Amino acid sequence: MNIIVTFILLSWLTNLGTSVSQNGKRYVEDACSVTHYRDLCIRSLASFSNTAKRNPCMWARAGVSVTISEAKRVAQYLIRVKKQRHMRGKNRVALSDCIECIQDSLDNLHRSLDVLRKLSGRTFDAQMSDVTTWMSTSLTDEETCLDGFEGQRGNQVRMLRSQVQNVTYITSNALALAAKLASTGAGGINGA
Ligand SMILES: *[C@@H]1O[C@H](CO)[C@@H](O)[C@H](O)[C@H]1NC(C)=O
Repeated sequence: MNIIVTFILLSWLTNLGTSVSQNGKRYVEDACSVTHYRDLCIRSLASFSNTAKRNPCMWARAGVSVTISEAKRVAQYLIRVKKQRHMRGKNRVALSDCIECIQDSLDNLHRSLDVLRKLSGRTFDAQMSDVTTWMSTSLTDEETCLDGFEGQRGNQVRMLRSQVQNVTYITSNALALAAKLASTGAGGINGA
């Protein structure tokens, strides 16, 4: 192939790649604009950009799925810490309560995702009212976990709190994405 043609073809392909990824970035930035922890939202949801595009339903589902993965990861971490049996007294009780709270939170997140996967125009408002209620309950459960360690010191407690705090941020973001879908109305199921 002629070298000039090759060059033109290559620069065209490069431009195409750049514009796809820039569009992708714009989609996730737009979706995350309704969230409170925007940077974390963009970082954790960037990989959904080119599939979710401007579809509020897909963004809400993505938000809840990512929250479930992170909450599961943290629950496993908390269970490992509990098994080490280093925590004493008040912290030990707080840790057991916290694990229960995170598990309740996970139940509510799973119920929410199930409903988000079977939204229908006729029952949309009632379904979204359930989802936002369960998501808020999830967030409250996680905050209850943090309250148990209030005023406690130590590296392990600090580490544990920062992980659970991260889950509250991601849950808050997912709740905002769900609220956005709810306010868009049933038209948001297939993209608005
Ligand atoms: C917070 O959650 C995100 C998304 O799952 C993860 O990438 C990040 O490492 C977490 N940060 C902390 C401090 O746990």
